[in-house]
Amino acid sequence: MKGRFITFEGIDGAGKSTHVDWLAEFLRARGRVVQVTREPGGTPLGERLRELLLNEPMHVEAEALLMFAARSEHWAQRIEPALARGEWVICDRFSDATYAYQGGGRGLEKNKLNQLEHWVFGNRQPDLTLLFDLPLEVARERIAVANRALDRFEQEKADFYQRVRQAYLERAQTHPGRIRIIEADRPLDNIRKQLEEIILTICL
Ligand code: TMP
Repeated sequence: MKGRFITFEGIDGAGKSTHVDWLAEFLRARGRVVQVTREPGGTPLGERLRELLLNEPMHVEAEALLMFAARSEHWAQRIEPALARGEWVICDRFSDATYAYQGGGRGLEKNKLNQLEHWVFGNRQPDLTLLFDLPLEVARERIAVANRALDRFEQEKADFYQRVRQAYLERAQTHPGRIRIIEADRPLDNIRKQLEEIILTICL
């Protein structure tokens, strides 16, 4: 059986992470071997880089390069071998997040990100990307009520997140076959229904 690579994306507060484990169980119940992972992170080195990326102030290019350093390790050590074994990989954020956050949010040239992508994983892209989209105010409210210390990204202002959301939506427009938008301000069971429909038509 062919392995599949599914990524989850969206601005902070979109609620995507709660659906990652649900989707993994949904697929396992249908006989798939599924790995769940995340970015930045997913390997011992990647998780150490995540600590830095989420907490240490840095120049935007250093930020993009560290995201891709973590991604390179993740791709080579974990994602590609799992796909080669025929497993399914569900990744909470991947390269679209760099286009949205470092490209859209921070204004880094897309051309540089294209080069890094090509270097790290060639022409391979996720088979399916689920973009959790919702109005900015709803996402901000969810973060505010979470009542925990916010990381470097979550502390960014509304206009940063507006640009990130816009960049995600533009990417969805330019990759309509791969990126599917989930309306993430709907009730939980409605979101699951949207996910199920997409997975059943696209991937199974
Ligand atoms: P998470 O909270 O969804 O795990 O993501 C951690 C943060 O890292 C989130 O605010 C988005 C940010 N991020 C980027 O800025 N660029 C990237 O390439 C990735 C993968 C995450």
